[in-house]
Amino acid sequence: ELDSNFYSYEAIQSIADFLLKRVKSRPKIGIICGSGLGPLGDMLKEAQYFHYEDIPHFPVSTVKGHAGRLVFGKLDSIDVMCLQGRFHCYEGYPLWKCAMPVRLMKLIGISHLIVTNAAGGLNSDYKIGDVMIIKDHINIMGFAGNSALNGPNDERFGPRFPAINKAYDPKIRAYAKEIAAKLKISNTVHEGIYACLGGPNYETIAECRMLRKNGVDAVGMSTIPEVITAKHCGMTVFAFSLITNVCILDYEDEEEANHEEVVEIAKRKESVLISFVSHIIHTINDK
Ligand code: HPA
Repeated sequence: ELDSNFYSYEAIQSIADFLLKRVKSRPKIGIICGSGLGPLGDMLKEAQYFHYEDIPHFPVSTVKGHAGRLVFGKLDSIDVMCLQGRFHCYEGYPLWKCAMPVRLMKLIGISHLIVTNAAGGLNSDYKIGDVMIIKDHINIMGFAGNSALNGPNDERFGPRFPAINKAYDPKIRAYAKEIAAKLKISNTVHEGIYACLGGPNYETIAECRMLRKNGVDAVGMSTIPEVITAKHCGMTVFAFSLITNVCILDYEDEEEANHEEVVEIAKRKESVLISFVSHIIHTINDK
C-alpha cells in the first residue's frame, strides 16, 4: 500500500483518516509556513499539534529552526491548518515526498493554500525585509526533469498533464495588494517572478545574472513543487516570498549569503508577516 517510491492515494488517505479521527475542526484554508511565518502556528486558538514523527508514514523535517509539526486551530475565528516546517529537495527527499503534505491537505478538505518562503532578491528595487507576492514562477528543477508530479498519475488527484499558467490566483493577489495598502506597507510589497533551485548552496554570481536576465525577481529553494501539486489537485493558491537577502550580482562585492542572516531577517519580520497573512486569510474566508 505504501510503496517506498511513491505515496498512493490510499496511503495519503490513511494519513488523512488518522488526523481526521483526532481533529475537531474541518479547515478550508491551509498554510505552509516558510521562514518568518513559523510563529503563526504557535498563535492558533484551540490548537491541536501533531509532530511529524507521531504521524504514520510522515517524513521528518531536518532543517534547524523548522518546528516539524502540523497544527490545526483557529486564527481569530477561522479554522486553518498549518504545516510548520516543510520538506526540501536538499534534505535528500524526492519532490513527491516534499509535496505530499499538499495532497494530505486536499484530502483533509483544504481548498485554499497559502505558501510562503524566504528568498534572495534579484530585482534591484527589492530591499531586505520586503515581501514579494508571487505572480508566476520559473521551475528550474523541472527543466532537469525533476517534478513532484513525476511517477504514476492518479486521476483522483488531477490530470496527467495539468495546466499551471493560472497557478497564482489573481483575485487573492489583488486583495493582498489592497491589504498591503491598508497596512501602509505598500512600499515594501512587490509582485514578481520566483524561481526555485535545488540548493542547498546559494547561487553563484553567474547564476544570479542568468536568472535576472530571464526575468526572475527572487530566488529560493522551495514552494514550486508544493504549488504545482496544489494546482494539480484543484486548489486555489496564494504565495509570497520574504526577501531575506539581496543576491550578489557583482564580482567586486565582498558580501556572502548566509543562513544566519536569512533566519535573523525572518525573525525581525515575523509580526508584519503574521498581520499580512491574517488579513489575507480573513479576506479568503469572507469571499
Ligand atoms: N537563494 C536561494 N534561497 C534563498 C536565498 C537565496 O539567496 N535566501 C533565502 N533563501
